[in-house]
Amino acid sequence: MKITSILLAAGQGTRMKSRLPKVLHPVCGQPMIEYALRAAWDASTETPVVVVGHGAEAVTDFLGDAARCVIQDPQLGTGHAVLQAEPLLRGQTDLVLVTYADMPLLRPDTLARLVEAQQQDRGPAALLTVIAADPRGFGRIVRGPDGSVQAIVEEAAATPEQLSIHELNVGAYCFRADWLWDALGRIPVSKKGEYYLTDTVGLAVQDGLAVQAIVSEDPAETIGINTRVHLAEAEAAMRKRINEAHMLAGVTIVDPAAAYVEAGVTIGRDTVLWPGTHLRGETVIGEGCVIGPETIITDSQIGNSCKILKSVLEGALLEDGVEMGPFARLRRGAHLCKGVHMGNFGEVKESTLGPGTKMGHFSYIGNADIGPNVNIGAGTITCNFDGEHKYPTEIGADVFLGSDTMLVAPVKLGARSRTGAGAVVTKDVPPDTLAVGMPARAIRKLNERKK
Ligand code: UD1
Ligand code: MG
Repeated sequence: MKITSILLAAGQGTRMKSRLPKVLHPVCGQPMIEYALRAAWDASTETPVVVVGHGAEAVTDFLGDAARCVIQDPQLGTGHAVLQAEPLLRGQTDLVLVTYADMPLLRPDTLARLVEAQQQDRGPAALLTVIAADPRGFGRIVRGPDGSVQAIVEEAAATPEQLSIHELNVGAYCFRADWLWDALGRIPVSKKGEYYLTDTVGLAVQDGLAVQAIVSEDPAETIGINTRVHLAEAEAAMRKRINEAHMLAGVTIVDPAAAYVEAGVTIGRDTVLWPGTHLRGETVIGEGCVIGPETIITDSQIGNSCKILKSVLEGALLEDGVEMGPFARLRRGAHLCKGVHMGNFGEVKESTLGPGTKMGHFSYIGNADIGPNVNIGAGTITCNFDGEHKYPTEIGADVFLGSDTMLVAPVKLGARSRTGAGAVVTKDVPPDTLAVGMPARAIRKLNERKK
């Protein structure tokens, strides 16, 4: 049986008061349409169709070939929106699953339940409802004396009696395709001049056909986003869901309300997240790490048993057993090898710090390749930029950089060399050599005892 999803994303989202199309607003790091699309995909057998209109170009660009887009212009309501997919889908699918792209919390399982219910029934449609204390402006489900669904009444058109109904229309429907195409043509125009998809329910009842209602058990999953207040609610609910999944998989989150983990993040077992931790983008954290408090990690890979306190990392790679912070910053291309220690007020960019290297305090390392077991003295700076170009610094194994060493790139320091405090290194230093002064000059070969 062919099942095709249609995702509605053409509305202006006026209530968001934004330049950005509503469905591209992020929830836990991903545009809300991404979640809706994934859930729709899970429940269907064919590539989903997305109806775009307002901000069509941005939405289409974002979707790429993850969906087939059709344009709705002008936007005359949800029923009119579904109609735009008819030329593409007529005769091509048995069931049509319609959802709105502003419901990121709707679970794939719930949509699958809806589809299953429709597959097992000969009626024209099944729809998802929720029983909730707060009606949120949703359409009300009107049932007959026998409990059968009679209609969906939009809030604006509801009688006071209907307004008091607590069973609400979530905005997910599974239709028999042939019946749907016919019904869409029969939707009456509303007072606002729109064609409401919800009116198909009343049409089915007029046809003498029964519509099934599947009741969702979790009101949080049915949050539809119309305003930024709803956006924050959805963010909190999604955050809770993400954090609970990590906790159940073995991650300790000391205060889940204060741990901000985006949807694309992976975390190993026995890692502890302290409050104020933000894990963003495609970040991967290993096992047994301690992250935070107050740490922001974006698109980075962290090995096992790392400790990162009050630091900011972006596009960094940490091998196992690295300790860093407080107040450390890693920028793109920072690679800290096994067992590196990086203390406070350090910044590393486009550089590798070899295994066991220590960088305790107040340093900037950029465009440098630093070997193993190097001691980077307090205040060491790579002077890598002359105002026009960036230059590399190379430091061999077991080098000892005295406090406040300035490494004027391009420059190389041989293995086991040392610099004196305040050295300004403008020329390469050979291995096993001590260099001091400003500019630093090699003064003597180091003997075994002095190394
Ligand atoms: C809709 C439902 C309501 C339900 C609620 C759940 C209708 C008429 N009402 O109301 O019963 O309780 O969702 O969240 O369906 N869209 C288009 N083209 C249009 C109009 C809308 O593609 O011409 C898209 C929007 O981009 C959005 C979705 O359809 O993703 C729903 O539209 P929205 O304006 O948010 O409808 P609600 O007022 O929330
Ligand atoms: Mg809505």
